[in-house]
Amino acid sequence: MISTYSQTILAEVLATKKENVSSSPLIDKKVFWKLFRWYNPGFQITSENQEIVFSIFRYFLQLPDFNEYGVIKNKASLEKGLLVYGDYGVGKSTLFDAIHSIGKVIQKHTGSTQLWFPRISSVHMLTKYYEAQKDPASNFKLEDFYRGKLYLDDLGIEDKAYNREEIIGKLLFERHRRKLKTYVTTNENPSAIAARYGNHIGDRLPEMFNIIKWEGKSWRE
Ligand SMILES: Nc1ncnc2c1ncn2[C@@H]1O[C@H](COP(=O)(O)OP(=O)(O)OP(=O)(O)O)[C@@H](O)[C@H]1O
Ligand SMILES: [Mg+2]
Repeated sequence: MISTYSQTILAEVLATKKENVSSSPLIDKKVFWKLFRWYNPGFQITSENQEIVFSIFRYFLQLPDFNEYGVIKNKASLEKGLLVYGDYGVGKSTLFDAIHSIGKVIQKHTGSTQLWFPRISSVHMLTKYYEAQKDPASNFKLEDFYRGKLYLDDLGIEDKAYNREEIIGKLLFERHRRKLKTYVTTNENPSAIAARYGNHIGDRLPEMFNIIKWEGKSWRE
């Protein structure tokens, strides 16, 4: 019964591809919604989070009116990435992980990369970076993240660089320069991001990102 339903959704994903060959290449919003519900049945959409959640869905579905609720206070654009900052435990990482997983399913079944992006946390990136400095056998290269889309979770909680280079600052700078779409979730507000990585980064944030403040109570028990 359950697997039959999941097969129905996947059949719809495949059908989207076929229809799209001759028309719009966009992923159908009903198919996206079914996949979201199928893979994340416990994710509650409430009066507190719905405007943000639906705006983010609309952004990934590339709907031009994605900022209808006005949750993005700087100039909204589908050409920019997303910077989602705010309170602890409101569901930022869960939501992006959900989209990441759906993106993988869609990519696998239709070849569409519309919702596909790699994900890494800033702490993990730094760990890999410093490991690579010590281990000549490591194949990690920061430059590999200077292309394509990228979801960076927990910006700002990685160790402070002190006298060393701020790797995440450098990454953001290079990705801005290359006009690449970056999705960031963080507890740091734009001023704190500027204070940490420098004004040259702070100044670029509005141009690089649709900026969303997500407030609310934590879902953590
Ligand atoms: N809408 C939701 N419905 C039910 N559970 C949720 C919802 N959003 C988040 N949760 C649960 O709350 C917990 C915290 O969510 P998550 O880690 O996504 O928060 P966050 O905003 O990324 O927090 P932080 O700022 O600390 O990184 C997780 O266990 C997640 O499953
Ligand atoms: Mg998080």
